[in-house]
Amino acid sequence: MVRLILDSSTGGYPVLIGTNLQRDLRNVVTRLDPTGAAIVTDTNVRPYALKVAKAIKRAGLKTSIHAIPASERSKSMTQLEAVLSFLERQHIDRGGCVIAVGGGTVGDLAGLAAAIWQRGVRLVAVPTTLLAMVDSSIGGKTGVNGMRSKNAIGAFWQPSAVISDLATIESLPVPNYRDAFAEVVKYAVAVDRGLFDLLQRNGPRLVERDAGMLERVVFRCVAAKALIVAKDERDRGPRAILNYGHTAGHALEAATAFRVSHGRAVAFGMRVAGRIAMGLDLCSKRTVDAQDELLDAFGLPDKPPHADPKRVLAAMAADKKARRGKVAWVMPRRIGHAEIGHTVPGALVRRVITRSLA
Ligand SMILES: NC(=O)c1ccc[n+]([C@@H]2O[C@H](COP(=O)([O-])OP(=O)(O)OC[C@H]3O[C@@H](n4cnc5c(N)ncnc54)[C@H](O)[C@@H]3O)[C@@H](O)[C@H]2O)c1
Ligand SMILES: [Zn+2]
Repeated sequence: MVRLILDSSTGGYPVLIGTNLQRDLRNVVTRLDPTGAAIVTDTNVRPYALKVAKAIKRAGLKTSIHAIPASERSKSMTQLEAVLSFLERQHIDRGGCVIAVGGGTVGDLAGLAAAIWQRGVRLVAVPTTLLAMVDSSIGGKTGVNGMRSKNAIGAFWQPSAVISDLATIESLPVPNYRDAFAEVVKYAVAVDRGLFDLLQRNGPRLVERDAGMLERVVFRCVAAKALIVAKDERDRGPRAILNYGHTAGHALEAATAFRVSHGRAVAFGMRVAGRIAMGLDLCSKRTVDAQDELLDAFGLPDKPPHADPKRVLAAMAADKKARRGKVAWVMPRRIGHAEIGHTVPGALVRRVITRSLA
């Protein structure tokens, strides 16, 4: 098991990464000494949430479980209201805590509920997907979707502890596991050369979900994200580096009405960003090739996504308009180092997108 203490404006909190962490969870909750604990999970993760409930009961606390339907659609005001009434029924007061057991969907929804219930109660994150472990459980962004726009309603709310039990990864569906590697490769290319080397050397072990190797990878990703977030907790500047691959990625998601998954879209976006950077002489072909080979090794994507380049470019133009004409690209310079705030000529974007989807 590895343990990090992360800094936030509201105090430091531990992140535990290992296998079968029920006893550690019990110790963490005992130390927080809440007046009550309410578990939020989804219907697929309920069996593991039951184990979490057992550990909490061993800490001498009463607890109960609220399971939302397992779907991105659960990031809604309706489900938020259901979670809030659950907290009310459980008599969670200002000294209580919410325990979010699940992937990013549960984390975002339960996190927002914790942020606003009683004007904020403590949150313990127990991520059960690789994406939630390396990305969504760290950094304090919580939220639900608006009618038309993703994550439109939310709050910054830092957890009091994050407990990443790698045993949960075993049951993850392949596409969800594979997709998370897009964000992992993102950290490696944008900020962590050591992580890149680790991934390059251990592709097959990671594809087989080797827990020891996953522990090292999750640790490095959490550390990478935490360092960036510490500089910019409220996402006003340097945190934009985490958008590497997301400019073209989001456009591809929008252009395909989200038929291309987020991970695949981000992988596409990184390939595009690499080619644009090369076109601007910001990085070498070797860098782009190394990135693309690593994405290939994790099956991201095994073939170019089906999408009409015109639609992707239109989605990008719409996004540009929404940002009042400013699209700041994150450009790779070399493996382990990307830069924010680049402007890219439209003709180059059009050329690269069109070729990448051919
Ligand atoms: N807050 C942030 O900073 C942040 C960052 C990145 C992504 N997100 C959000 O995270 C969400 C995506 O998260 P996700 O990829 O974890 O998806 P998810 O939470 O929707 O989970 C994907 C599927 O896997 C199931 N599942 C979860 N854990 C499992 C396990 N251990 N075994 C078997 N099945 C399991 C879920 O029930 C669900 O069906 C998106 O809504 C995205 O907006 C938030
Ligand atoms: Zn992402």
